[in-house]
Amino acid sequence: MCGIVGYAGTSSRVADHGALDVLIEGLRRLEYRGYDSAGVAVVADGAVHSRKKAGKLVNLENEIADAPLPESMTGIGHTRWATHGGPSDGNAHPHLADGGKLAMIHNGIIENFAGIKAELLADGVSFLSETDTEVAAALLGRLYSTEANGDLTAAMQLAVQRLEGAFTLLAVHQDHPGVVVAARRNSPLVLGLGEGENFLGSDVSGFIDFTRRAVELGQDQIVTITPDTHSITDFNGNPAEGKEFTVDWDAASAEKGGFPSFMEKEIFDQPAAVADTLLGRSDADGRLTLDELRIAPEELAEISKIVVLACGTSAYAGSVAKYAIESWCRIPVEVELSHEFRYREPIVDEKTLIVSISQSGETMDTLMAVRYAKEQGAKTMSICNTNGSTIPRESDAVLYTHAGPEIAVASTKAFLAQITATYLLGLYLAQLRGNLFQGQIKDILADLGKIPSKIQDVLDRAGEIKELARSMADANSVLFLGRHVGYPVAMEGALKLKEIAYIHAEGFAAGELKHGPIALIDDGQPVFVVVPSQRGRDSLHSKVVSNIQEVRARGAKTLVIAEDGDNAVKDFAEWVFFVPETPTLLMPLLATVPLQIFACELASAKGYDVDQPRNLAKSVTVE
Ligand code: G6P
Repeated sequence: MCGIVGYAGTSSRVADHGALDVLIEGLRRLEYRGYDSAGVAVVADGAVHSRKKAGKLVNLENEIADAPLPESMTGIGHTRWATHGGPSDGNAHPHLADGGKLAMIHNGIIENFAGIKAELLADGVSFLSETDTEVAAALLGRLYSTEANGDLTAAMQLAVQRLEGAFTLLAVHQDHPGVVVAARRNSPLVLGLGEGENFLGSDVSGFIDFTRRAVELGQDQIVTITPDTHSITDFNGNPAEGKEFTVDWDAASAEKGGFPSFMEKEIFDQPAAVADTLLGRSDADGRLTLDELRIAPEELAEISKIVVLACGTSAYAGSVAKYAIESWCRIPVEVELSHEFRYREPIVDEKTLIVSISQSGETMDTLMAVRYAKEQGAKTMSICNTNGSTIPRESDAVLYTHAGPEIAVASTKAFLAQITATYLLGLYLAQLRGNLFQGQIKDILADLGKIPSKIQDVLDRAGEIKELARSMADANSVLFLGRHVGYPVAMEGALKLKEIAYIHAEGFAAGELKHGPIALIDDGQPVFVVVPSQRGRDSLHSKVVSNIQEVRARGAKTLVIAEDGDNAVKDFAEWVFFVPETPTLLMPLLATVPLQIFACELASAKGYDVDQPRNLAKSVTVE
């Protein structure tokens, strides 16, 4: 959600790239965050020049082609996901202030903007947009020319003292060519260090084409970059430091690799996402070695309850985790949407382990819920895919998923990697607490180790699913049923279809069918059913087979995902897709994949942009 790029370079680099090249390239890489308008501002010839346009980046590029910008080595760029004010040219960033001499971009929400706006209006300032950002820009402009005496960094320090809420702010001023000033509170910002040039980005994708040296910035910090320097302070101007790291994502892994969409590429990345998440986390005897966790094993052994906090797809990973962790560790696990958790009075204490799950590590609702839980004394652990992001940084412990960059808005490979990480956590806790014998843990790890090649088997038969999807491009509604771990899989299958194909879709617990959803079934209604393994709990399998018959008897078109060799389902299915045999608790890692392929192909058949679905953002950094 909202992408930010800042650049300060020297003229010696002009032959290679100017500010505009860096900004546009960075914004292109940040497109995945979701946006509905884009804009840039550069400083050149003693003035600030800005272009902005609603819609995709190409609209901005066309605008610049029609009204070219002067060559420049300093600038800021933004992709906006509308919050205050609709997605229009006027509301797009940058916003200008100080008589057009200053430009600002912003990610986040300034909660007290109305009061400041009233004050500035009373002082005679006028506004062109409905945004909170323009208010922050006007405040900065006012402070720059008054109390800060023309010092842009000092003006930023004064401005942020007045602001409440979440923000990353970047500003340039015509009197300071070669300078970009930024501030961050509760919104993401990373610094990139180059040779004779420095960068700012919402994340490292914003400058990955230009440098791999990055600096993680802390909460409530201000950073000023010039081509050769960067200085970091806290909001009061006291010197502060960031943490330097090397970006290990390569630019190519953020490319489509020959697939028609990032989403399809990421679905096909899943064997590697699971394998890489398992890598190096157990020894040859099957002992889990989660050295990176940062919470003492004795403390973890003593927890009395786990609360999983997440949003969207990540929350469904949490629902899968509940079945596995409770089964292996006998610890109660609650799964709650982060935004619901925070606004009730949840019961957590120092024996509660909060496990937040977030691909981006920046989801505001989850961040706020984690902070709240910390205040109540709970221990916090983050399962996250993005190194250096805010949620893992603020948590007591982190277990990174190694899915690599996920670009498509709808999450796929991060989901499987998250489930894998929760399995590792569950087994680790079972090991610490002695709930499972070492041999049992070793066997489960061995089953997990076979999952990547089993996912590959599913992917090798993607054609079967794609054919079904294309034949159903006109469906108005699709239902999904599952029991036990099949239930969150059903929910995720439905979510994928809603997100990218804009089709009404619902996931239900199969046992709930007779309590309402069965009324939805009439002739030809497509219903996916996720059937658990035949081995193990017989009753679970046979109950789901009965549910298939119940919907079929009422005219449903039954589309069944079942385990290889499950002959019991064949007679009741219009279409059946067999996934390789695996223990029921691990089955989500296989059964989800055909549903992802189905949604991706169906949405593509309808001509939709599966990577950037309407109204959605990859990373929801506002509440
Ligand atoms: C957004 C994305 C979803 C994602 C959710 C949680 O809604 O569109 O794909 O599942 O945020 O994101 P997180 O980064 O916290 O996993």
